Amino acid sequence: MKVLLVGSGGREHALAWKLSQAPGLEELHAAPGNPGIAGLGRCHPVRAEDGEGLLGLAGSLEADLVVVGPEAPLVGGVADELRHLGVAVFGPSAEAARIEGSKSFAKEVMRAAGVPCAETLSVARVPCVIKADGLAAGKGVYVCRDQQQLDAALRAAAALGGAIVIEELLEGEEISVFALCDGARASALPAVQDFKRVDEGDTGPNTGGMGSYSPVPGYGAEEAEELVDTIHRPVLEQLASSGAPFIGVLFAGVMLTPDGPRVLEFNCRFGDPETQSLLPRLDGDFLGALVRAARGNLSDVSLETADAAAVTVVLAAGRYPAAGDVGSPIDGIAEAEATGALVFHAGTALQDDRLVTSGGRILNVTATGPTVADARERAYEACELISFQGMRYRRDIAAAVTHV
Ligand code: AMP
Ligand code: GLY
Repeated sequence: MKVLLVGSGGREHALAWKLSQAPGLEELHAAPGNPGIAGLGRCHPVRAEDGEGLLGLAGSLEADLVVVGPEAPLVGGVADELRHLGVAVFGPSAEAARIEGSKSFAKEVMRAAGVPCAETLSVARVPCVIKADGLAAGKGVYVCRDQQQLDAALRAAAALGGAIVIEELLEGEEISVFALCDGARASALPAVQDFKRVDEGDTGPNTGGMGSYSPVPGYGAEEAEELVDTIHRPVLEQLASSGAPFIGVLFAGVMLTPDGPRVLEFNCRFGDPETQSLLPRLDGDFLGALVRAARGNLSDVSLETADAAAVTVVLAAGRYPAAGDVGSPIDGIAEAEATGALVFHAGTALQDDRLVTSGGRILNVTATGPTVADARERAYEACELISFQGMRYRRDIAAAVTHV
């Protein structure tokens, strides 16, 4: 089987790592990929947003499956165009991807499907949450506990343009719950917890995610299955009945409130950096599962979850999330890998054969172990061996998890 993987981040490197172990894989291609992915397959200089370029590449490679990592090409309709050409795609149509692309659409679907979510408010009054309606790369959400925060949020949301959604402010732990979907059926994956704030103790601005771990205490396979039953399956049914069947991975950001789980958002793709902690825990034929989902035939998929735990720490540029870093040499990856850790490239580039920084989140260091605490220790041991100018990372990823 020839697979074309679309994207260039740590999530895609983790996907490439997992796919490259599949017995059924003949060739792995990536568009555009990154220097880490280049060690596992062939990278082509086609951007993830270049729909026409991707169509041409999938055609010339005679790809059997295209796996789309990021949301923007999906919301832009890349999966529809590829399907028109007869290519199997793991990723939703533009219509189904609106579940991520439009917060108000997601709300409508949840309301129709009876899925518990934060209430929409008609007036912006504290405490509340202000959200830009469209895609904003994780930056369009403002949690407002006082009037000053609310004023700033309204100004910032107005600067992004477009409509806003006002929501009740929910309190609780957040988890990321994923299900592989074939348009009609959903297969639950292990729950993962992500650390969104840039600084330790969950302070500072929101980011794409500074680390992740799995399993989440109290949210094993049975609980994940229950959440998928309450959340993903009704949404899938609702989307299918409105003519927009969802094929790909449906990712629910769920807040565990004292009144039960509430959906904060949906994404139409794998989480980043959740995927880096999720995939090392999966046993079984992952490529086969993606192919069956893409073909609308998930019925006999069972991906076992290993007991092992995984922890991922994001090594970011010094000024992330305000700005990234470009061109600083990176050292110590081989040494970190020698400890047994996985080092996924998220924002790197080659400059005269030298690996350098190129982005906000630069590397993701993932380690596994019998418990979260073991995996965590191994991940941090590997992080300490890596260096680049300005490198920052949170030292408290999964620190509070002591009993799994
Ligand atoms: P979203 O992009 O909608 O997931 O929002 C990003 C982050 O903002 C979430 O992970 C939460 O930490 C926070 N957030 C979003 N909606 C709410 C809400 N209704 N109540 C409290 N926090 C929220
Ligand atoms: N880590 C959260 C996301 O991928 O949206």
